[in-house]
Amino acid sequence: MYNATRRPLRSRILRWYARAARDLPWRRTRDPYAIWVSEVMLQQTQVARVAPAYESFLRRFPTVASLARARLASVLRAWAGLGYNRRALNLHRAARLAGGSLPSDAQALRALPGIGRYTASAVACFATGAPEAFADTNIRRVLGRIALGRVATLDEAVAIDAALLPPRAADRWHHALMDLGAMLCLSRHPRCGECPVREVCAGRGTAGEPAGRRQSAFATSDRKVRGEIVRALRGARGGLSERALAAAIGDPRVHALARTLEQEGLLSRRGSRLVLG
Ligand code: ADE
Repeated sequence: MYNATRRPLRSRILRWYARAARDLPWRRTRDPYAIWVSEVMLQQTQVARVAPAYESFLRRFPTVASLARARLASVLRAWAGLGYNRRALNLHRAARLAGGSLPSDAQALRALPGIGRYTASAVACFATGAPEAFADTNIRRVLGRIALGRVATLDEAVAIDAALLPPRAADRWHHALMDLGAMLCLSRHPRCGECPVREVCAGRGTAGEPAGRRQSAFATSDRKVRGEIVRALRGARGGLSERALAAAIGDPRVHALARTLEQEGLLSRRGSRLVLG
């Protein structure tokens, strides 16, 4: 489908982006470390929440070496407001394994423990403009609708992306796809009338996709209690006894979940107290 329309498709998307781009702080840097931090934050947290946290995190830990030197408890404190604290733990571990600096090519990034295929390609592309193909949820939806008339699987989306991406400035291309997905090619109510590729899109005008599978109420609230435990310990420098923690949170799962967090390395025991890190 896209052979004949590849160029006009690309240039319509890039021209739309030149006009409509969101000004986001991680788009103003070429530092692979800063971009990596933003990508990890953006994995499960919305742009509006990430933007201020990203800037303060980088003031606190401006380089991969400074993050590697930091204590886990300070990293978890700087993560406040972002949720899914395990990401902060993994970021800290990966910084310690990175050995002082972060490479900017995808292969070298991929070789670091804790950096997966998506993150390696995204960081390399955003840091250098290299033509790396990758897809997140928005890109799967945008490219899938354009080429297939439905949301693409990850492999499909990466293949479509590889066929369409420009040889240079692929960073702008991917930012453009992400902005299309966030601003026009919305999951439930796409705004096809305003879309720069409406004439060539296989999915134009089709109804929004069905609602995704929802997390069970139980999984959601386990996560909530985990978050409450980390938040309580963030505020208590000398730690808290398990009893005080259970009383503060008022949920019987505190004991079991504190043990899990301990096994994962997010908290530890100091005498009879639980402390962060
Ligand atoms: N989500 C993941 N990476 C992003 C980026 N660079 N800009 C906006 N949203 C994103």
